[in-house]
Amino acid sequence: MCEARQPMSASPPETAPEVSQALDDLRCLEMEGRAAFEAAATPEAVEAARVDFLGMKSGRLKSAQARLKELNPAGKRIYGQAFNETKAALEQAHEAARLRVSSQRGVASRLDVTLPGTAPRLGHRHPLTQTIEELIDLFARFGFSLALGPEVEDVFHNFEALNIPETHPARDPSDNFYLNTGALLRSQTSTVQIRVMEAQRPPVRIISLGRVYRPDEMDQTHSFMFHQIEGLMVDRGVTMADLKTVLRMFCSAYLGEEVTIRFRPSFFPFTEPSVEVDMKWIGGDHWVEMGGAGMVDPNVLRAVGYDPEQVTGFAFGLGIERLCMRRHQIDDIRLFYQNDARFLRQF
Ligand code: FA5
Repeated sequence: MCEARQPMSASPPETAPEVSQALDDLRCLEMEGRAAFEAAATPEAVEAARVDFLGMKSGRLKSAQARLKELNPAGKRIYGQAFNETKAALEQAHEAARLRVSSQRGVASRLDVTLPGTAPRLGHRHPLTQTIEELIDLFARFGFSLALGPEVEDVFHNFEALNIPETHPARDPSDNFYLNTGALLRSQTSTVQIRVMEAQRPPVRIISLGRVYRPDEMDQTHSFMFHQIEGLMVDRGVTMADLKTVLRMFCSAYLGEEVTIRFRPSFFPFTEPSVEVDMKWIGGDHWVEMGGAGMVDPNVLRAVGYDPEQVTGFAFGLGIERLCMRRHQIDDIRLFYQNDARFLRQF
């Protein structure tokens, strides 16, 4: 039986015995009702408890309400207030139980462990990043280590040390992205040749990769920002034959055995002689320009404190977008920069 059947200490001492009894019964009803709602584990059990305690027709609360009329006016006031509190407490217990079992059922019905899972969508590296990583890896196998240089460059490293005097058309303000400070966004990765030779004695065998910037009109094969890979090798007795061997080995490793390369005479202020590097696929009908190269000009070697009588070197600079485009048959350079997942997903 309910402990509240003991006389309630909360009842004022002058309360009539029938009022005290009614209050005790009410307290007992509340405790039993709370316990029933807390114990209900299914919606059906909650509903049964609701009918038992809160049912409009023959619920126990309804019977407790009927006792009001047995009491005198003072008892009615005390009991009526206690009744309202009990009713509110039981309605609250019912609501809590209802929410508890319905949320349990909701989780259970939403979770079907036998269904196949949803695979998380993983991104991957951009095709240009993949190309850069592959190039670093390939040249590492040929003994070239990685050197990096700044994208915001000074005029000395971008031009002067590369034998490009102030009067040279390449220095025209409209041909470069100059900053207010007089520095500029580098227009080629050849800047890193100078930085490496300034910092290190021969022998040198490095590659450098990264973004370069030129105010070129955007079209299928040109962008105002693109990537280059630069190579530099300086040692005793380095010749054009070494340059051609390294580039041929690189092309077959990256693009396939069926690629042939040719050197076309050209001019770069920092190499002498200078060549354009063209590639052709066996069966293809035209040569594609991939970059420039040459033997490092003795003036450049002297400017960094190397002795051109002792050491010679070659350098090359290739467009990374162009290499990646050939490799994957991509016909428009702008696709690299549009962030269209339908394009990027293919690599
Ligand atoms: C140079 O930038 C020289 N620094 C290359 C060099 C290095 C010569 C070392 C000698 C020794 P050039 O301006 O030709 O060269 O650019 C090299 C390659 O970059 C081009 O063949 C092409 O593949 C790529 N390229 C040039 N301009 C663009 C552009 N706007 N968009 C995309 N690729 C470009």
